Amino acid sequence: MARTTKEHTQEIGLSIALILSRYFLKTDHLHYGFWTEDLPVEPGHLHQAQEKYQEYLIAHLPADTQTILEVGCGTGTLAKKLVDRGYEVECVSPSALLTERARELLGAELPIYECKFEDLEVEKQYDTLIFSESFQYVKLEKLVPHTYRYLKEGGSLLIMDFFSLPEMGKSPMGGGHDFAKFQQMMVDQRFESVANIDITAETAPTLDLAEDLIHQVIIPLKTIASEHLRSRYSVLYRSLHWLFRKKIQKLNTKYFSGTRNADTFLRHKTYRLMIYEKSSAATTELSPTDLVAAEL
Ligand SMILES: C[S@@+](CC[C@H](N)C(=O)[O-])C[C@H]1O[C@@H](n2cnc3c(N)ncnc32)[C@H](O)[C@@H]1O
Repeated sequence: MARTTKEHTQEIGLSIALILSRYFLKTDHLHYGFWTEDLPVEPGHLHQAQEKYQEYLIAHLPADTQTILEVGCGTGTLAKKLVDRGYEVECVSPSALLTERARELLGAELPIYECKFEDLEVEKQYDTLIFSESFQYVKLEKLVPHTYRYLKEGGSLLIMDFFSLPEMGKSPMGGGHDFAKFQQMMVDQRFESVANIDITAETAPTLDLAEDLIHQVIIPLKTIASEHLRSRYSVLYRSLHWLFRKKIQKLNTKYFSGTRNADTFLRHKTYRLMIYEKSSAATTELSPTDLVAAEL
């Protein structure tokens, strides 16, 4: 399946996030932190909070798990932990840059399927599928049939990711599948829900750190660069600014308007650890209502 412009932009966004968080925040993890009371919300503690996130996820792995498919493995840090603890892990990673990092960490032996989950073609089934903050990127209409296909009977789908709450009004932050629609879809497919834990309060503080990085580093750099271009190449600057005015306005609203913070997140998103089991009653067909919902 060819990549859409949105997917391409998301991939670039993740690569930039990795470069920035590696340099400024000293971390290779690409997911939120899990902030407990003993951990002040400061850049120096992000890596620790992210380690807590991974430990929280691992602590919730179904007891009979041995084989795992980690979908959207990022730089491979979670997969590495799982391998070190004796699990048999394979990964899916559609991003060339992230796959390269993951291969450095995991070695050439561990299979990494370099494609989107939607396009995966392997003749295998696993005990558990893990989506650590990668779930929101996968198209829902493909998710259920693929989950059905790649899970052994009795196997589990473990999701740790945030969902959107459209009933709370228009959100200034994008991302996340519609929470109610997704849950209904899983009920319709007769997957059994065995865990649904709200960890929004523990993860939301990560947004305040990201906002801080934007204000302390990215906005000043952006201002210096644009002042320089404006003074040296005035005509070119004004022409480009006019040509890309809609894109610039969109970026400004999305990243530089001060609305990507913990408060907004708490209002418009819900971060969940969810586990669904593939029971013998599970089905692979999506109802017409689900198909419409999945496309929204
Ligand atoms: C926010 S990062 C999370 C990375 C890693 N799981 C972690 O927790 O650090 C999102 C991941 O999802 C992957 N991804 C994006 N779209 C995907 C898709 N359609 N299928 C599988 N993975 C996807 C990205 O390449 C990236 O590795």
